[in-house]
Amino acid sequence: MKIAVLPGDGIGTEIVAEAVKVLQALGLKFEIEYALVGGAAFEAHGHPLPEGTLKLAQSADAILFGAVGDWKYDTLERSLRPEQAILGLRKHLGLFANFRPAICYEQLVDASSLKPELIAGLDILIIRELTGDIYFGQPRGRRSATDGHFPGTDEGFDTMRYSRPEIERIAHVAFQAAQKRSKRVTSVDKANVLETSQLWRDVMIDIARQYPAVALDHMYVDNAAMQLVRAPKKFDVVVTGNLFGDILSDEASMLTGSIGMLPSASLNAKGQGLYEPSHGSAPDIAGKGIANPLATILSAAMMLRFSLNQPEAADRIEAAVKKVLAQGLRTPDIYSDGSTRVGTAEMGDAVVRAL
Ligand code: IPM
Ligand code: MG
Repeated sequence: MKIAVLPGDGIGTEIVAEAVKVLQALGLKFEIEYALVGGAAFEAHGHPLPEGTLKLAQSADAILFGAVGDWKYDTLERSLRPEQAILGLRKHLGLFANFRPAICYEQLVDASSLKPELIAGLDILIIRELTGDIYFGQPRGRRSATDGHFPGTDEGFDTMRYSRPEIERIAHVAFQAAQKRSKRVTSVDKANVLETSQLWRDVMIDIARQYPAVALDHMYVDNAAMQLVRAPKKFDVVVTGNLFGDILSDEASMLTGSIGMLPSASLNAKGQGLYEPSHGSAPDIAGKGIANPLATILSAAMMLRFSLNQPEAADRIEAAVKKVLAQGLRTPDIYSDGSTRVGTAEMGDAVVRAL
């Protein structure tokens, strides 16, 4: 089991260290190899996704990823920004299926900004298409040195596109996931305005015929954003494109109390996967030892389940996380009166003890 560990920037290094600690406490045999990515790689090698990092990622069974990005790179040309590292990994490895579960842990119902009765027992799965859409269309504009047709002009231009096969494969992923859950898929689009969305909707309807046991409904993205905070428990599996999925998964994360709790998995057709917390590099709290490592620890559990065929170990980690929450341990993002405030490393140590 070869794991490429790419901590990245900001709180990335702190939270990944805790996840590795937890993995090492399982008593399994892993081959763990580290590489720089994002701003850290740019500083050392002049590129956010150096050849060596990409090669390591391609050769691994799974990738454990922290986060990339920092405000100080905002003026760089687009191809050198830290975010290009994660986008490049997704593209090069074909990681088209992004799983972002939003589960509300019983102990954290009060950490959400929503009323407890709206979110108690919440368990939704957002499936975001990750290698198409406007993220990978043709850009033109001020920071797009790769194209440069309109350098320095006052026009910014991006292309939103999807092809039938790209939509078909994510549709299959969503319907198959729903078959193992409560058998409902909500496809989110903007078919009243966008051609890509019309194609998306038509293909979803076509593929749904192969899954007669699963109910499919459609929702426009603006309405979905509203329904997510109005009645989130009405959703089960949500499948959507790259851009809408980016936005809705951040929104869904807050239903659970903190984005610091949410893991994610990005899989390719071979089952190889990249596992990362849904949150970013949080440069404002980097280096303070207060970031919540649970999203990354739970991402490691997803890695064991989806890419390394170790479902029992995944269950053990998830049970350990529930246990530390039940013990009342909280990093500042999920802290509420009466609980015990802990830092990043203390939280990681507590999970190891609970294991
Ligand atoms: C995410 C992030 C990334 C995205 C950024 C860092 C490029 O927001 O994984 O959701 O937009 O996909
Ligand atoms: Mg995002």
